[in-house]
Amino acid sequence: MTLGTGAPQGRARVTLRRGDITRLTVDAIVNAAKSTLLGGAGVDGAIHSAAGPDLLGECMDLGGCEPGDAKITGGYRLPAKRIIHAVGPIWRGGRDDEPNLLASCYRRSLELAREHGLRTIAFPAISCGVYGFPIQRACAIALWTIEEILEADAGEAFDEVILVAFDPPVYDCYERLLAARERPPGLRSRVLGALVGLVVGDALGVPAEFKSRAELKQAPVTDMSGYGTHDQPPGTWSDDSSMALATVASLLSGYDPEDMMDRFARWLYEGYMTPRGKVFDVGNATASAIRRFRDGALMSEWGGRSERDNGNGSLMRIMPLSLFVHAAPVEEIIAKSCEVSGLTHAHPRAELTCALFSLIVRALLDESIRAEAGPGERLRQALVEAATLVKPAIPEDEAPVFERLLSSAALDADEDDISGSGYVIHCLEASLWCAAQHPTRYRDAVLAAVNLGDDTDTTAAVTGALMGLNLGYQAIPPLWVEGLARRDAVFRLCRDFAERVVEEAEDARAEQAS
Ligand code: APR
Repeated sequence: MTLGTGAPQGRARVTLRRGDITRLTVDAIVNAAKSTLLGGAGVDGAIHSAAGPDLLGECMDLGGCEPGDAKITGGYRLPAKRIIHAVGPIWRGGRDDEPNLLASCYRRSLELAREHGLRTIAFPAISCGVYGFPIQRACAIALWTIEEILEADAGEAFDEVILVAFDPPVYDCYERLLAARERPPGLRSRVLGALVGLVVGDALGVPAEFKSRAELKQAPVTDMSGYGTHDQPPGTWSDDSSMALATVASLLSGYDPEDMMDRFARWLYEGYMTPRGKVFDVGNATASAIRRFRDGALMSEWGGRSERDNGNGSLMRIMPLSLFVHAAPVEEIIAKSCEVSGLTHAHPRAELTCALFSLIVRALLDESIRAEAGPGERLRQALVEAATLVKPAIPEDEAPVFERLLSSAALDADEDDISGSGYVIHCLEASLWCAAQHPTRYRDAVLAAVNLGDDTDTTAAVTGALMGLNLGYQAIPPLWVEGLARRDAVFRLCRDFAERVVEEAEDARAEQAS
């Protein structure tokens, strides 16, 4: 049975098949080999046994192969013309560069196929057997890597790439991934995408924080990178994610703003919810508010109320709350967004920007209204609806600063009129602008956010959260997720929260039905 993404115009198709790769009549099959290339168990054993002893003879002259690399031989008694021997990484928990090495196996195999004019190629699930790579993560990396290469190839060198699943778990995983490309994401994928998308965007922006747009025009950020402004290793996320994840952890026990603030203080003074136990990036308004909390001030005195307190320090962490209350009445969404912003940023402008953001989240999660519209149109409609709902709550004297947001003018502004500064209005304008310019590609939207310069991590965190929400978790490049500091802990927390939101939505539906 074959499944697959229909061959988009002028692009090789990706198909999924169950069964034994040694039986396929294709130009090339890929072997999941060991570094000696001298045969083994699993698919390696099956290929050597079906190809016959001459294969081993040729392999012996190849001098082995490094993990992540691949070498090519004849097909011998196989129906396939050639065999590409790729050496996958042995899974050691994910901190040994396994994800990049696995992606490299697929990249190198397709490079060899192109060099030898091999237009149909079949892959086993490399490293998913003896080498123990978690199947879901390996399949996501494989599919993303293959599709990226086929998109660039545009049908020039390849006609078909076949994913061969010998095991049912591998088949089921690929089937889910391929199906997810053909339909809008569900609530779980949107919630997970919003939270992981925030952390990935933050980590992408950390190395470039405070760089000017002119500087980034000269040398744009094009991938997850490290060091730079804060001299942190690649995948390091900052205060945006720490405070958002602290909010997630708090909300898992219910709505309790004081508990949120207590966790913010543990973050600032004890390194709670940080990548490596230390804090390297804190906003002034946030630090002052947490200090007042620690010194025993009344809750109403924690958040800064002056006009100068309108940084993006509450907007950057509001997504978890927005998700938590997305199905509540509008008044409650506005009130809780303002209250949670007000823990550190209590000026109406910062609070109402968070309220507007939460109402955009509400609209994007309301499938009934916009299932048919594409992501770009859904985003625009969501902003229009959210603007209508928040407008009555905006005081007269605040209305002018919200003008470009409430009229949607920000979405189509010229880049020169969009600022990546830490001012809360600029941050939401810039994030919505990036999302509107690249509505179907998480990668392009968050890189556009980073390359606006200035407060790059926060603009990219907010953009990433919006894009992950609108497109779902599978829109986030798997290698960027794999490269996050404390990837497993971050993923687990976000997944648990997504499960909770889904459970509550199901309970609410059941209640309505009864
Ligand atoms: N056709 C297609 N896929 C197969 C076949 C086959 N005939 N036999 C096994 N597979 C699948 C497995 O079910 C698994 O999903 O190939 C995938 C890769 O599993 P392994 O073959 O165990 O390869 P890997 O996990 O990469 O480990 C490689 O195992 O076989 C040894 O010599 C090999 O040392 C190397 C290591």
